[in-house]
Amino acid sequence: MKLKESRILITGGSSGIGKAAAVLLSQSGAKIAITGRDKEKLNKVAGETGALAIHADASDEKDIVKTFEIIKKELGGLDCLINNAGIGEFPEVENLTAEAFLKVYSVNVFGAALMAKHAAEIFKKQNYGNIINIASTAALKGFARGTIYSSSKFALRGMTECWQAELRPFNIRVMLVNPSEVTTAFANTERKERQDVPNKLTGVEIAHTIKSILEMDDRGMIPEVTVWATNPFEKK
Ligand SMILES: NC(=O)c1ccc[n+]([C@@H]2O[C@H](COP(=O)([O-])OP(=O)(O)OC[C@H]3O[C@@H](n4cnc5c(N)ncnc54)[C@H](OP(=O)(O)O)[C@@H]3O)[C@@H](O)[C@H]2O)c1
Repeated sequence: MKLKESRILITGGSSGIGKAAAVLLSQSGAKIAITGRDKEKLNKVAGETGALAIHADASDEKDIVKTFEIIKKELGGLDCLINNAGIGEFPEVENLTAEAFLKVYSVNVFGAALMAKHAAEIFKKQNYGNIINIASTAALKGFARGTIYSSSKFALRGMTECWQAELRPFNIRVMLVNPSEVTTAFANTERKERQDVPNKLTGVEIAHTIKSILEMDDRGMIPEVTVWATNPFEKK
């Protein structure tokens, strides 16, 4: 797709990977809208990138409906949804609670699905569109204390395959990006960005991945891409 003048909605665009994608895609001439729960953080990034700020919780259906109303009014339509907002909880098996499952699944699974529902409605009508789901290497392999997070990302990966099967006949590309560890504010209770480490990924590498798979001519689509740090083992 041509990024210039395209309309892209990024959930969780106020920090980390979403913010890096908002910066890079707006530099490429796309019109960006970002969502987030922390209004101050969201408005700051909107000011820095020129993105449209939509104060909305991606796990709240009313906010999701409001998001799409704003998109239609302010951007006049949509060419790409990036389901990026995501959270994690990492209890040991014996400490699992239904509440913790629900908290994570409401964003990573139900929220992403409802966002896709509204985007698909627009995309099917225009017989064109793009959905990028940001999953994780945790969608490919489980790990200790990953019951909730990893299973939520396995679910997102599974939904991606379902939407690919369903939406390809409408020229809608559904693509999955699996980052390995990225030094963001993810899972930081104070919501502070982690310090950049030379041998670990930053949001910029994931943003480049998103930009590359979007930029491919619409006749082709990359169903899934995984991004590793080349050598995260060696301490620099
Ligand atoms: N960092 C990693 O190592 C890593 C690795 C693989 C995959 N991922 C995935 O990458 C995605 C982005 O994570 P990140 O590392 O960039 O984390 P981050 O820095 O914590 O950013 C998450 C973004 O999502 C927003 N957000 C969270 N819950 C939301 C909700 N309910 N509604 C709207 N916005 C919400 C946050 O804004 P507020 O603070 O305002 O809520 C923030 O803008 C997530 O899906 C994560 O699972 C991350």
